[in-house]
Amino acid sequence: MADLLRDEDRIFKNLYGLHDWKLDGARQRGAWEGTAAMLGQGRDWIIDQVKASGLRGRGGAGFPTGLKWSFMPKEVGNRPHYLVVNADESEPGTCKDREMMRHDPHLLIEGCLVASFAMQANACYIYLRGEYVLERNRLQAAIDEAYAAGLVGKNACGSGFDFDIYMHHGAGAYICGEETALLESLEGKKGQPRLKPPFPANAGLYGCPTTVNNVESIAVVPTILRKGADWFSSFGRDNNKGTKVFSISGHVNRPCNVEEAMSIPMKQLLEHHAGGVRGGWDNLKCVIPGGSSVPLLPKEICDTVLMDFDALREHQSGLGTAAVIVMDQSTDVVKAIARLSYFYKHESCGQCTPCREGTGWMWRVMERMVVGNAKTSEIDMLLDVTKQIEGHTICALGDAAAWPIQGLIRHFRPEIEERINLYRNDKPVFVQAAE
Ligand code: NAI
Ligand code: SF4
Repeated sequence: MADLLRDEDRIFKNLYGLHDWKLDGARQRGAWEGTAAMLGQGRDWIIDQVKASGLRGRGGAGFPTGLKWSFMPKEVGNRPHYLVVNADESEPGTCKDREMMRHDPHLLIEGCLVASFAMQANACYIYLRGEYVLERNRLQAAIDEAYAAGLVGKNACGSGFDFDIYMHHGAGAYICGEETALLESLEGKKGQPRLKPPFPANAGLYGCPTTVNNVESIAVVPTILRKGADWFSSFGRDNNKGTKVFSISGHVNRPCNVEEAMSIPMKQLLEHHAGGVRGGWDNLKCVIPGGSSVPLLPKEICDTVLMDFDALREHQSGLGTAAVIVMDQSTDVVKAIARLSYFYKHESCGQCTPCREGTGWMWRVMERMVVGNAKTSEIDMLLDVTKQIEGHTICALGDAAAWPIQGLIRHFRPEIEERINLYRNDKPVFVQAAE
């Protein structure tokens, strides 16, 4: 058992909305404390601290945040720099950024100022998922408060740095959460991913140097600077540092968002914070540990696995967005993954052939697998198709469509074979609806 995170070490002290989310409440919890002094330490100091903290991107990919900031050009020249916050949270199972924006919007706004200062970006755009109406209203009200208090705007916090912050609302496309599709959408175009390289630090918004960061990655930065890089990196283990907000859903007794230390054992996370698996731990069938894009893990692995980037990768899965989707023994896991296949088919932007054709093809085969109307040899053919999509598309949506199916075949092949045999022997196939 690992030590649980103490309340005083939680960055998001109002994650459950029990306290005042406005400026006065945020200040009581420590937000906007010493911000001018942080800026006074200079740009290099801020980036060095973020690097030393070990913070890795919290949007799913886990790219080191300080390193990403250091890719921005040192000189501004005639191309303005931008910070773009990816608040288009759409990964199935993920609802952490929503709670941060709803209940602690000032932490995000303060983070936007500090990060933008470090990267010499005088403007920041927050690209917000269109369905997040309450969050949009709260965030805008908090931005207005920050302007009125002189925290942002001209001479932000008395630093001499001019900083503006704008919100932009998405229109419901999952693909607009992919950073370059998001930039296209922000520019008023159809949200389709760009080829990378060039990465946004070289050619981002309007062709200018841009850094795109997830809400959580930005919102944790002021607290890291206040408490110190050593404090943040004292949680978790090498290469997997800090605290992290997990979204726990599915067949647990108390679904929740919770901030915990990175590398907490999955079993401890679920039992302590989510009231355990419905019907007890032995009733667990499998878990998707990081949002729908990462492969599921069967109970045997969940018994001991740690919740961090490296431990989950060792088991051919990933931490992703840290959205933990729990499925008990009553789950029709083939049907659950077929439903995800439909999601990716529906959300594919259609730009590249392996994804456009492959996602539809995989979904149709998966639908037949659900009832067993397939040949056993088609399981390997399906696996082969996932391998042909993986790594052969413009953006990660192709991988995200392939990986859940790979995980299903890796861990639950006998369950698919059993259906095929039952169907071929003309026996009725019992398919229990996934909840
Ligand atoms: P990625 O690994 O391509 O990039 C991650 C970040 O690092 C990007 O900002 C990229 O510009 C930067 N980067 C990577 N290599 C670089 C290099 N050589 N030079 C400069 N910058 C570099 O991953 P991507 O496509 O941004 O994200 C995929 C992840 O997003 C998935 O694993 C999934 O977990 C997550 N995701 C999250 C969603 C959400 O709602 N939060 C929705 C869908 C997916
Ligand atoms: Fe569009 Fe899919 Fe290609 Fe991404 S992988 S660019 S979503 S078609």
